[in-house]
Amino acid sequence: MADGASDLAKSARAEAYSIPLGDLDMSLGERFQDDTIWPFFERLRQEDPVHYCAESEFGPYWSVTRYSDIMTVDTTHQVFSSEGGITIANPREEFPLPMFIAMDPPKHDAQRKVVSPIVSPTNLAELEGIIRERTCAIFDALPIGETFDWVDRVSIELTTQMLATLFDFPWEDRRKLTRWSDVATASEKSGLIESEEARQAELMECAAYFTRLWNERVNAEPGRDLISMMAHADATRDMGPMEYLGNLLLLIVGGNDTTRNSITGGLLALNQNPGEYKKLRENPALIASMVPEIIRWQTPLAHMRRIALEDYELGGKLIRKGDKVVMWYVSGNRDEDSIDRPDDFIIDRPRPRHHLSFGFGIHRCAGNRLAEMQLIILWEEIMKRFPRIELMEPPKRIYSNFIHGITEMKVRIPA
Ligand code: HEM
Repeated sequence: MADGASDLAKSARAEAYSIPLGDLDMSLGERFQDDTIWPFFERLRQEDPVHYCAESEFGPYWSVTRYSDIMTVDTTHQVFSSEGGITIANPREEFPLPMFIAMDPPKHDAQRKVVSPIVSPTNLAELEGIIRERTCAIFDALPIGETFDWVDRVSIELTTQMLATLFDFPWEDRRKLTRWSDVATASEKSGLIESEEARQAELMECAAYFTRLWNERVNAEPGRDLISMMAHADATRDMGPMEYLGNLLLLIVGGNDTTRNSITGGLLALNQNPGEYKKLRENPALIASMVPEIIRWQTPLAHMRRIALEDYELGGKLIRKGDKVVMWYVSGNRDEDSIDRPDDFIIDRPRPRHHLSFGFGIHRCAGNRLAEMQLIILWEEIMKRFPRIELMEPPKRIYSNFIHGITEMKVRIPA
């Protein structure tokens, strides 16, 4: 099973170091899908860490690939604006989706504050019991000695249940959240949607569904779910329908794809690193440092983009006002100048939270503690039941330069 993958890795390495630097375009979804991005980013970090790509499917853009430069861009929001979009792909003008991750202060700050209590210490403590109970139920239903898809049975199910809880969403319809999450970030090339029109039609179904829930809750006593929080707060109660949909999709994608791919990526990393898996079996207390290492290793969101509001010199290059700047977290997390042995998965790293996967600055992930808690509970419950879960086939990856993820991973729990 390793041979095909290693041939592909070898030819990617040869291509990465022979292609003229000016032609290097990191936005190609196929390189993420076949997991051959690594030597391309390695070369950029070494030879051209702030790299201009003049032509791509998404127009011209800068690639920022080193840890420290990414940190500079992410924490200098006065210069690098999120307004209007946070992915390399430009937002569709005919289908605008305002959301607070794609806004600058002061509106960003006001809206973020509305939903922040979802991860207050009291709420997290309450959620812990619910997550543990649901995780156990999912594990109790898994087949033993049979091959099954870990993504569908565990990663998707668990994160979708979590989201349904955060929204207080009708339980029996919860897989709609999974679908809307996938559709929200899908391109036509992903195979998930038939056309852009079909994508927008599905998202409007999402809007209609959530509008019903809003109408039920806006005149009721304020609940502790995300919809009630938005319906009862000054900064969000007067949002237009597209802004409501935008913020919903932010919370759905934010809470879904990311944690889902950390759940899958962690099991994959342990299978690819049997020495680390053994360490974990011998000392489950390592879960606390393993979880942030999984999040670094997987880097579930490959990039975030900004637009320069003024000329700015970064790494000796002049970024001009109006330029598109892409921070490749997936590369910064493998930067040998900032992280010791970055290409190794090490579950007892001394500083495991030294990674970029949650971003930095005013947009730093609002759900990071919740995500970590979910993963800690997951691994605690796995280690109580299943000392080993075996990978049966190489995983299938998503065609996307934004969601760095896995669509299918066949595994077996030995009898
Ligand atoms: C391992 C799991 C997760 C990863 C890797 C992740 C990653 C990220 C990243 C990279 C950002 C943007 C940071 C920046 O621009 O500097 C972000 C923002 C955000 N995330 Fe997460 N996330 C995860 C889980 C969650 C969860 C569980 C939720 C909650 C439901 C969530 C909600 C959000 C929200 C609301 C924002 C926007 C924050 C803002 O603009 O102020 N995320 N996340």
